[in-house]
Amino acid sequence: MSESVNPIREQWQSRFSFIMAAIGSAVGLGNVWRFPYIAYECGGGAFLIPYFTALFTAGIPMLILEMGLGKRLQQGAPMAFGSIRKPLQWFGWWAAGLSAGIVIYYSTILSWSWVYLFHSLKTAWGTEPELFFVEQVLHRSGGPTQLGTPVWPLVGGMALTWLSIYLILRKGVRNVSRVVLITVPLPMILLAVLLVRGLTLPGAMDGIRYYLTPDFSKLFNITIWLKAYGQIFFSLSLASGVMIGYGSYLDRHTEINNSALITGLANCGTSFFAGFVVFSMLGYLARIQGLPVPEVTQSGTGLAFVAFPMAISKLPALNAFFGIIFFITLLTLGIDSAFALQEAFTTGFYDKWRVPTEKLARYFVMIAFVLSLLFTTRGGFYWFDIVDKWICDFGLVISGMAQCLIVGYLYRIGEFRRYLNHHADIRIGAWWEWALRYFTPFILTVILAGNVMQEFKGAYSGYARWITLAGGWGVLLIWIILAYILWKIPEKQEQRTKNKEQRKKTGII
Ligand code: PHE
Repeated sequence: MSESVNPIREQWQSRFSFIMAAIGSAVGLGNVWRFPYIAYECGGGAFLIPYFTALFTAGIPMLILEMGLGKRLQQGAPMAFGSIRKPLQWFGWWAAGLSAGIVIYYSTILSWSWVYLFHSLKTAWGTEPELFFVEQVLHRSGGPTQLGTPVWPLVGGMALTWLSIYLILRKGVRNVSRVVLITVPLPMILLAVLLVRGLTLPGAMDGIRYYLTPDFSKLFNITIWLKAYGQIFFSLSLASGVMIGYGSYLDRHTEINNSALITGLANCGTSFFAGFVVFSMLGYLARIQGLPVPEVTQSGTGLAFVAFPMAISKLPALNAFFGIIFFITLLTLGIDSAFALQEAFTTGFYDKWRVPTEKLARYFVMIAFVLSLLFTTRGGFYWFDIVDKWICDFGLVISGMAQCLIVGYLYRIGEFRRYLNHHADIRIGAWWEWALRYFTPFILTVILAGNVMQEFKGAYSGYARWITLAGGWGVLLIWIILAYILWKIPEKQEQRTKNKEQRKKTGII
């Protein structure tokens, strides 16, 4: 440990801890409610072809880039980009700001999950889970302009979420090392329990057949490929500074290439596995309702808070038990993604001004809690939807593109590859440079162009234009200004010298 580049900075206890934390951040709600549904929509078993192509041509190369950049520069995204070129610190803050934005709305899903955990005791949603979700849980208003007051149980769920994040992060990454020993395996075990229950129900096989029957004709459709890339980006927590932040706590000897491969495969394996759980239950639901499987399937919030609860209340026995298992799965899946996101942002304040870890955790959690109250209001659901759409479909795509171009063209990428291959279990070839300089930026440009064009065709989900301008573009633009301010506030003098020495050691200048 004493040979690390910057001895003051904290470090993971072992490579194993690092990989577990990286898997914890990647494996999240996206694996359970987004992947199975996208796979089903996009050709079932045949979707695995674009999905794994996306994993190997863009996902793993970017994962290597991010983890490697963090390890080499020993700093989170803001200062890491700042040490490549000074003004790029501005971009670094913006990219890390996306992670702050994501965790603020991601916490909403965790707050719903807390509320549902409580309702599971009595399977309170009964046989009308949709009505229950909209009216009893969200108390949803008619539209985003009718905010109304905060819904108190949701505020309670939110408070529990932020309290958990604070307690985990206040002692820094060493504590994270310990927590992920629970939050990574536990949801896998619980998913396995749900799978056994699911597979032994009548109709399960119909659901699985729907999930996996390959429809190769869909592979000729370009949008399916773009969806595969979009899903890989979100699912591997790329472009938000998360993996740079986690990589920055590594020591000099830790291997990157294979660690990235393991993280990527574990994440995608979990998604594939979760698909069996989800579709066995949906098959059952279809059978008892006498409907075809497509009519009971829903993605996103609908799947987790409507279709699944419905299946749970129709189980022959132990309904409350399976309800509790399902919502604990969601909570443990989501919490390690949430604290990884917060860490990605706050580490910038440590790097630049040496703000102590506990203080950072405390202040961030307090401010974020207040901001997240917007999503607990009666109109909060709509704002959640808008912010999610803009940060993922525009923010992360732009950030990923910029990241590839910066490292591909301003960072002596050939030398970086040699650095990564030094001591590596697996050596990466010139294809990696090619992927980052040409292929991934190209794909991201196409995705972005598609998303922008769709916006021009009509406002998202029929919201009024000014709403998406404020909640979508507004949030992204305000961040450009805030990131500029954070860049311009000078770093501590002694910190400046330390950072400079560090950059010399790592061969940046
Ligand atoms: N990968 C997480 C999931 O699948 C979400 C996430 C996105 C986390 C971006 C961090 C950064 O749920």
